Amino acid sequence: MENTNSVQFFSGENIPLEMHKVRMVQRLHLPTVEDRLRAMQAAGNNTFLLRNRDVYLDMLTDSGVNAMSEAQYAAMMMADDSYAGSETFFRLSDALHEFFGKDYFLPAHQGRAAENIIASAFVKPGDITPMNYHFTTTKALITRMGGTVVEVFSEDALDSSVIKPFKGDLNMEKLEACVQAAGASKISFVRIEAGTNLIGGQPVSLQNMRAVSKFCRAKGIPLVFDASLLADNLFFIKTRDAECADKTLGAIVHELSELMDIIYFSARKLGCARGGGIVTSDKALYEAMREFVPLFEGFLTYGGMSVREMEAMAVGLRETLDLEVINQTPMFIAALGEALQQKGVPVVTPFGGLGCHVDASRFVEHIPQSQYPAGALGAAIYLAGGIRGMERGTLSEQRRPDGSETFSEMELVRLAVPKRVFTLSQIKFVADRVGWLYENRNLIGGLTFEEEPSTLRFFFGRLRPIGDWQEKLAAKFLADMPNGL
Ligand code: F0G
Repeated sequence: MENTNSVQFFSGENIPLEMHKVRMVQRLHLPTVEDRLRAMQAAGNNTFLLRNRDVYLDMLTDSGVNAMSEAQYAAMMMADDSYAGSETFFRLSDALHEFFGKDYFLPAHQGRAAENIIASAFVKPGDITPMNYHFTTTKALITRMGGTVVEVFSEDALDSSVIKPFKGDLNMEKLEACVQAAGASKISFVRIEAGTNLIGGQPVSLQNMRAVSKFCRAKGIPLVFDASLLADNLFFIKTRDAECADKTLGAIVHELSELMDIIYFSARKLGCARGGGIVTSDKALYEAMREFVPLFEGFLTYGGMSVREMEAMAVGLRETLDLEVINQTPMFIAALGEALQQKGVPVVTPFGGLGCHVDASRFVEHIPQSQYPAGALGAAIYLAGGIRGMERGTLSEQRRPDGSETFSEMELVRLAVPKRVFTLSQIKFVADRVGWLYENRNLIGGLTFEEEPSTLRFFFGRLRPIGDWQEKLAAKFLADMPNGL
């Protein structure tokens, strides 16, 4: 079911076959475990603060680091540089209209810039914004405007071992109760995030989108769709929902788009370029947001983006409607997830989009949440293989106003699989080193803050290990792999 790739192996093996060839490469380096230990300590045990020269496989994110196609590079040469009225803007507007079927487009320099515009336009102090799950920047920007995010995720969404096809769905009963309690006038908007990032890249079903849209329209509440992770979500709708098996990807996007009032996206993900934007067919909503574009971003025809990236995005959106393009990431994620599972490593299932999510709460059960188990595991994965993942747990939360911790509902380390970047041998290397770490998991200890910024602390915070567990882990690695690689 997961593997839509039409090529079957005679041997029966389930291998994610690449439907592209690599024509430009970047030299990589694998530092020794001693160098990795030094680099991790210099980076304050925060994978965001590592330098690329110290990283072998950069699995921090897929944001802005997906491989682009030759057609995207070619389009960049044709970009029309201009402060106002650029032809590039109209080409991108046309591509977006073709893709989503919405009438108006507001450009923004990346996804969170679109979120900033939407929050600035629609969130008032005391408002409630229900959503399937928050994303870090979304929540920070809504909170900044005086709003409160309420998560109305589906049952089992946060249980990493439960297998359900659409764990990103909103829970309709919780949504109705939330709107009932607050009153519809206090709801700034309802937000659905495609490919729910922080619960492990889990998709939202078309049926759920229909139900939420129907409810919001009856109550007069705008429905906002975060389409940043739509490519993977689209793949899962196409392959997991029997109703969509015979529909084209374009038809599915149009169908879901009609259910939404505002759609925004990070084009660092959707369309494999760098940038972002907002589309809507509602003139009043468009006008409420428009003034923020020149204020925060740049003139209305570039919104802080380079025109070259806008051209690449237009092509990338069209390529998103090719199943052999969008199946690559989920198939590689599944290959990594299966290899890890075979070694007993706890991972989020079913395998979702964006990356393979290792469940730190089950991997390092002995580390309490106050010692950041996912942060510690992220540091340990780097020590084990020069692999840079991202903490998606308590470190990524914010403290409450009284200074107490908000313990995250999930403690995950995300090993992102940027689109068409890694080879299968590199994926196997990741599984091997994380498997080694799992065998030695009792050596992993916790972390404590040395420097803690008050907002989005996971970006710049610096931590130190509690005790000398990292030296012990490095020594064990050298005993098993004497060349330190
Ligand atoms: N919404 C979702 C679902 C995202 O995953 C992201 C970014 C954003 C909004 C913000 O977009 O980065 O262009 O400003 N996610 C990246 C990640 C950072 O690594 O998952 P942005």
